[in-house]
Amino acid sequence: MATPNTTTFKFNDGHEIPAIGLGTWRASEEGAAYNAVLSAIKNGYRHIDTAAAYGNEEEVGKAIKDSGIDRKDIFVTTKLWNTRHKEAEKALDESLAKLGLDYVDLYLMHWPVSTNPETGEHSYKDWTYVDTYKSLQKIYKETNKIKSLGVSNFTIPKLEKILNDPEIDVVPVVNQIELHPIFPQPRLLKYLADNNIYAQAYSPLGSEGSPLLALDEIVELSKKLEVQPANILVSWAVQRGTIVLPKSVTPSRIINNLKTIELSKEDFEIVDKISEKYGVKRTCDVPEWKAFVDDIA
Ligand code: A2P
Repeated sequence: MATPNTTTFKFNDGHEIPAIGLGTWRASEEGAAYNAVLSAIKNGYRHIDTAAAYGNEEEVGKAIKDSGIDRKDIFVTTKLWNTRHKEAEKALDESLAKLGLDYVDLYLMHWPVSTNPETGEHSYKDWTYVDTYKSLQKIYKETNKIKSLGVSNFTIPKLEKILNDPEIDVVPVVNQIELHPIFPQPRLLKYLADNNIYAQAYSPLGSEGSPLLALDEIVELSKKLEVQPANILVSWAVQRGTIVLPKSVTPSRIINNLKTIELSKEDFEIVDKISEKYGVKRTCDVPEWKAFVDDIA
């Protein structure tokens, strides 16, 4: 039987994060994020992932407040959007105000992409995402607004730029990336592990419409183990040592997605080998990302 997962992972800065968090990307209809977060917290989640770009920080913050659970017992992540790279602290302050919080547990650079809000170009002559990271490092060191600092959508070459910069000494605690059986990114995961950085898996069910739940291997395993297909994917993600962020706005699914089982070596390998059969590809197909998304790392 799948049971609610209470695993936590310890970051390179000493803070701990619950292995499973509620994803809120595309929980954008009015009230959806509020209801999802409230339902999640009432049913045992202690980790909520949002972003300025999701447009739902106010609802997320209100649900956290209304849940009645101590703020310090809930792990909250938000993210700096691309157009705010040159004014990170202002953007963070706006996120905190919307969330109704005085700190976030984790602040991520959403993409290694600095977009000029005036021209729409994804670059400046005098600024790169490395400068952005330096300004985030400064906020991290000099204020109490960020407990842990991380990045998102970084490839190995981009992480190297940060880790090799002489002015940077705060190693990101996570890299939040698309991760699931048909986009498993083993090379990037090895690089992250070698550098004490956790991988955080977004779109673990294959994103919108959860296409991975219908794969034969997942359906067969779920029947054999008498759990739902989502439990197989979430269990596999935690078992491979990644933090996982299943998104749902549906209470019954939210409750279910926190539950895991221990997969046997054989069953774990069945999921591991899925990309060999179906090929490796992103399932997050977002037209606006085309301008800056990298190839498979
Ligand atoms: P909804 O939010 O309407 O419940 P991912 O986490 O990979 O981004 O996947 C999110 C998608 O998967 C959403 O469309 C979500 O729908 C759906 N989903 C989430 N959990 C489940 C579940 N347990 N069973 C079926 N679909 C799910």
